[in-house]
Parts: sequence; C-alpha cells; structure tokens
Amino acid sequence: MDAADVMSDLSEVLYTADEIAERISEVAAQIDEDYEGREVLMVGVLNGAVMVMSDLQRAMTSHVQMDWMAVSSYGSGTQSSGVVRILKDLNTELEGRHVIVVEDIIDTGLTLSYLMSNLASRRPASLEIMTMFSKPEAAEMDVEVKYVGFEIPNQFVVGYGLDYAGRYRNMRDLGILAPHVYA
Ligand code: IMP
Repeated sequence: MDAADVMSDLSEVLYTADEIAERISEVAAQIDEDYEGREVLMVGVLNGAVMVMSDLQRAMTSHVQMDWMAVSSYGSGTQSSGVVRILKDLNTELEGRHVIVVEDIIDTGLTLSYLMSNLASRRPASLEIMTMFSKPEAAEMDVEVKYVGFEIPNQFVVGYGLDYAGRYRNMRDLGILAPHVYA
C-alpha cells in the first residue's frame, strides 16, 4: 500500500518509501562500521519493528541475527498507556552478546525504558538502541538512543510498520493520520 492509496486518511506524508530506504541504508552502513568484527543480535519489538528490522538487516553487509519480543502498547488508541507487559519473550540468551534493540518509534519512551532495564539485567556484552522514528519527548528520556532514522513532530503517524487500530502498517510511506480518522 502507498500513501496515495489512502490519501484522504492522511493530513501529510512525512517521508516517502524512497526517503526511508535511503536513510535505512545510511544507518545500516553505520552499524556495519561500528560493529566490525562483532556479530550483532538485533532484538525487535513486535509488531511495529517488523518492517524496519527486515529492511535494516538486508541493507547490512555483515552477519547479523534477530530475535523478537512482544510487549503490550497502545491498543487501539493514540495515547501511551504507560502499561508495559511482556507478551512474548526472547528465544535467545543475551549474556555476552552485542545487542541492538530495534524499534519502530519512540514516543514517551516508557516502553523502551522498561525494556532496557529488563534486557540489561540479562548481562549482554553491549546494549544499544536503533529507532526508525523519534518524537520530541524521547529526547528527555534517560536512555541514550544510538541510532535514529528520523526525528518527527509530535503527531500520530502511520505506515512503515506503525498502525492505527491494526491498519496502515503495510503502507510504504510514513504519514500523519488525519484527525477525522480517529475523532
Ligand atoms: P512509547 O512507550 O510512548 O515510547 O510508545 C511506544 C510504542 O507506541 C511504539 O512502539 C508504537 O507501537 C506506539 N506508538 C507511539 N507513537 C505512535 C504513533 O505516532 N503511531 C503509531 N504508533 C505509535
């Protein structure tokens, strides 16, 4: 699905599929360089990080592994609930591994700060964060985010893995959801 297919549901297209792909290539090259000689395990947060994980790993030239967690997030609303529950845990032991948590978006950072303390307690050799999109509040978080795709305005966005009520994840572009859709 392209933004053009659902244009009346969007108030603006923030990043096109091409712009996203170009930025992904840059971040992938940076990770290849930073981790030269060390094999990375990427931990994705379902379901939103599916697209970014898939594109980021394929853009890399080094070996890289993946595992997934599922945590509870927004449900069908547009506000952070602050409630984080692990619905599916990792299959991999993190001890001694070089871990990068791959996120779709950081908004309040509530989900991530919970996840990071949970993952840190499993004694990885290193633990960093990559997020495709970051909202302004994320900058006030106490966790440092090493790789950011794009900083975006404080609006509810959809596409490239991000949903509203389960929809729009499969849109290739990133767009701001028009208020009439959720009003
Ligand atoms: P946080 O805990 O407030 O940082 O929110 C984290 C999660 O909320 C993300 O992983 C998304 O699943 C969801 N989320 C936050 N902002 C948006 C948005 O603008 N569109 C869609 N989902 C969002």
